[in-house]
Amino acid sequence: MAEPRIGIYGLGTMGAALALNMAENGIDIAVANRTASAVPAFLDRAGALGARVTPCDDLAGLIAALPKPRSILAMIPSTAPMDTFLEEVLPLLDEGDTVIDAGNADFHDTRARAAATAEHGVHFVGLGVSGGEDGARHGPSMMFGGPEDSWKALGPVLEAIAAQFEDAPCVARLGPDGAGHFVKTVHNGIEYADMQMIAETCELLRFGAGLAPEAIGDIFARWNEGPLASYLFEITAEILRTGDPATGKPVVDVIVDSAGQKGTGRWTVIEAVRLGQSATMIEAAVAARAWSAERDVRQEGGEVLGTTRGILTLDPDAVADALMAARVLEYAQGFRILGTASDEFGWDLDAARIAEIWRAGCIIRARILDDISAAFHGGATQLHLAPAFADVLARGLPALRRLVTDAIGAGFAVPALASALGWVDTMRQPRGTAALIQAQRDRFGRHGFVRTDAPGTAHGPWWD
Ligand SMILES: NC(=O)c1ccc[n+]([C@@H]2O[C@H](COP(=O)([O-])OP(=O)(O)OC[C@H]3O[C@@H](n4cnc5c(N)ncnc54)[C@H](OP(=O)(O)O)[C@@H]3O)[C@@H](O)[C@H]2O)c1
Repeated sequence: MAEPRIGIYGLGTMGAALALNMAENGIDIAVANRTASAVPAFLDRAGALGARVTPCDDLAGLIAALPKPRSILAMIPSTAPMDTFLEEVLPLLDEGDTVIDAGNADFHDTRARAAATAEHGVHFVGLGVSGGEDGARHGPSMMFGGPEDSWKALGPVLEAIAAQFEDAPCVARLGPDGAGHFVKTVHNGIEYADMQMIAETCELLRFGAGLAPEAIGDIFARWNEGPLASYLFEITAEILRTGDPATGKPVVDVIVDSAGQKGTGRWTVIEAVRLGQSATMIEAAVAARAWSAERDVRQEGGEVLGTTRGILTLDPDAVADALMAARVLEYAQGFRILGTASDEFGWDLDAARIAEIWRAGCIIRARILDDISAAFHGGATQLHLAPAFADVLARGLPALRRLVTDAIGAGFAVPALASALGWVDTMRQPRGTAALIQAQRDRFGRHGFVRTDAPGTAHGPWWD
C-alpha cells in the first residue's frame, strides 16, 4: 500500500464522505476515529476504494502512519472536541506538520488555535467545507484559511476533491488563520437569508395566492431554469413536489414549523454588528428561525391577535423579478461583511475568487455568482451599485416593493424581503435620518454633533 498523503480523523457523516472522495480521486489516506469501530465500518463502505486507505486504531496510530511533514484533517465538532483533540495531537506532532480543522468553527477560535499551534511550530488550517454530505463525497466548495506552506502541500489534494466549475476547482486559499472559516460563516449567513426569502415567497404563493405546494414547486422549477437558478431553488422545487408516503399529504405539511440552527447564521450577524456592518436579510433570517422555535407564543399570538390574512394576486414573473433583486441585495450585504472583515483582520480577501469558488459544490451555488465574480473582476466594491446589476435592480426593486407592500398589507410576515428594502432604501438616500438621532443624543447626553456648515463638535441651543 502506498504511503498516505493525509490523515483523516473523524469518520462521521462529513469525515467519511471526504475520505471516500479523496480515495476515489487517487489520494492515499490514513483514517482513524475516536470510536475505533467506525474504522472497519468505513472500510466496508469504501469497498474497492479501501485499497487507498490505511486504517488506524487510534490517533497515535494515525500520526505514526503519516510521512513527515504530516497533514491531519480533523472532521469533528469544532467546539470543545477540537480543543481536546489539539491537546492530544500536539505532543505527537513535529515542527512543520499541519492540522486542518474542516468543521464549522467560529473563526475567533480558529485564530486562537492557529496562534497556539504556531508556538509548537505546527501549522493550523481552518477549512470551511460546504455542500453537506453529498458535496463532501462528490465535490465540495472549500474555503482555506492558513499558511502558504500548508496550502502548497494541501492545495493539490483539495483541488482534486473539490467541486469543479467549468474545470476550475472550487477551492482557494483565501487568507491566513481564520479567513477560511470566516468566509464559510458568511456563506452560511447568505444561505440563511436565501432560505428565508424562499420560505417567505412560498408562504405568499400558498396562503396569499392560494396555490398548492406542488404548483409552487412547478414555479420554482421553472424559475430554476432562468437567472434565479440555484441549488436552493432546485431542492425547494423537489421538496414542494414531494408527498409524504405515510399520509399522502405534501411532505412540508407534516413537518413541525420550528427551524433548527447551529450558530453560523448567528455568528454572521454578531460579526457584522461587531464590524459596524449590517446584514439585515441575514438578521431577519436568524430572527425568523428563533421566532419559529416559539411555537407556544405563536399559538397564543394567533388566539389573542388573530390569524387573519388577506388574499394576494401574484404574478410569478413579477415575483421572480422581486426575488432576483432580493438575491442581489443579500449577496451585497454578505460581501460587505467580508470586505470589512478583510480590512479589519488584514486578510486581503479576493471577493471575485470567493464568488468563483461558491459557483459549484456549496449550498448557495447559484447562477448569479458568475455575474458577481465578473462584477468584482470589473472593479465593483458594492454589488448593489455594480453596473452588472443595474437592470436587475431597475426591474426588481419596484417588483420587490410591490410584493412586500402587498404582503404586509395583507398581514403576511416577510421579514427578510422587507428588510432588504429597508436597507437598500436607506442606502439610496444621500441625506438620511441620522441628523435627528444626533440631535437627540446631544439633547439627552451632551454627545455633540457635527454641523453641516462648520467642522468640529457642536451642541444644540438646548445647552446654551
Ligand atoms: N453535516 C454537514 O452537512 C456539515 C457540513 C459542513 C461542515 N460540517 C461540520 O463537520 C463537522 C463534523 O460534522 P458531521 O456532520 O460529520 O458530524 P457527525 O456525523 O456527528 O460526526 C462527528 C464526528 O466527530 C467525532 N467526535 C465527536 N466528538 C468527538 C470528540 N470529543 N473527540 C473526538 N472525536 C469526536 C465523532 O466520533 P465518534 O464516532 O467517536 O462519535 C465523529 O467521527 C462539524 O464540525 C460540522 O459542523 C458538517
